[in-house]
Amino acid sequence: MAKREKVVLAYSGGLDTSVAIQWLADKYHMDVITLCVNIGGVTDVEGIRKKALKLGAVKSFAVDAKEEFIKDYVFPAIKADALYEGQYPLATALGRPLMAKWLVETAHKEGATTVAHGSTGKGNDQVRFDVSVFALGPELKIVAPAREWGMTREGTIDYAQKHKIPVPVKKDKPYSIDENPWGRAIECGVLEDPWCEPPEDIYAWTKSPSDAPAKPEYIELGFEKGLPVSLNGKRMDGLTLIDKLNVIAGRNGIGRIDHIESRLVGIKSREVYEAPAAQVILKAHLALEYMTMTRHQLRFKELVAREYSDLVYNGLWFSAHREDLDAYINSSQRFVTGSIRAKLSRGNCIIVGRKSPYSLYSYKLATYDKEDVFDQSDAVGFIRLWGLPLKIQAQEQTAKTAKAKLAKSKRSIT
Ligand code: ARG
Repeated sequence: MAKREKVVLAYSGGLDTSVAIQWLADKYHMDVITLCVNIGGVTDVEGIRKKALKLGAVKSFAVDAKEEFIKDYVFPAIKADALYEGQYPLATALGRPLMAKWLVETAHKEGATTVAHGSTGKGNDQVRFDVSVFALGPELKIVAPAREWGMTREGTIDYAQKHKIPVPVKKDKPYSIDENPWGRAIECGVLEDPWCEPPEDIYAWTKSPSDAPAKPEYIELGFEKGLPVSLNGKRMDGLTLIDKLNVIAGRNGIGRIDHIESRLVGIKSREVYEAPAAQVILKAHLALEYMTMTRHQLRFKELVAREYSDLVYNGLWFSAHREDLDAYINSSQRFVTGSIRAKLSRGNCIIVGRKSPYSLYSYKLATYDKEDVFDQSDAVGFIRLWGLPLKIQAQEQTAKTAKAKLAKSKRSIT
């Protein structure tokens, strides 16, 4: 008998990947090895590992990639000010390449010919997985069961119930949820009607702003070279800081995002996110950049941020282009060191204070008090040269033609 091929499946314990174990074995006659990559969204890793074995996996692995995720994926995104379409902090988009990396490594180690993931054929995640595998293990075959089987979400639930596969979703609460410390994404169900306000029960990390305490909470975030290193004066690692900030900002009603998003595959989708820590950190980071970077740097960095966000969203993490942008971004961060004070109040994160040893803000230049050293007479010559092109244009072009027009209209009257 020919040796069965092995496939490594990225396993979350959720509906699609649970169904996929049996489906892969039935349809492709492969030995299924599952891999649960925990980037921070998984609570019961051991339970998930065992569940895969129960559902027919020949081997089941779990890796703790929480710190790697923050250090190598979230941190670069913070330095980049990455927000897709100005709204989405890219939690899922940053996580997929890391999962793909572990998938490829495990396939190589286990001698598997194939990797598999639970993404459907309508989303961005399939692109991120597939393209990352192209980049890291180009010889590997890729199977995406949920993209092939074409079942509706209800159909998948039926399949699971028929095959006695325990699933964490019920038909009356059919949400698809993906979470890691950088954010939580909620899709499906009533959210597919963009006119329908998201029901309160989809939220798990954030209080409704109207139920948040009336008394504002102040926080201080310390940054070094563009990265958050302390919270309220206490130094801590990135993961701890983000976890803590999710709680603090979440209880003040911060972090809810309700967005009509442009997917790479052409679909507009209604996405609801909770990203309390991400919103606060990105806002604070930008505030510190405003204080420590010139306007030329800020303007260009904004373009780079947009490019970077699109690239991450569109699955091109393992590209030379991303490395090139990272080189620029890292260089741009060398003076982004200092502290930001923010007031968290009923859904709002308001920056109320900032300081930096590299601040470009000069009191002596800005003040209207007697310490003022700015020579206002300098402004006159500066403005004369700054406005010179417009003056010449007016004289030689716009004013001339206006005069000619006037002359013509007078002639036609007489
Ligand atoms: N729309 C977001 C993205 O494309 C979130 C996707 C969430 N994925 C999920 N399987 N629920 O990154």
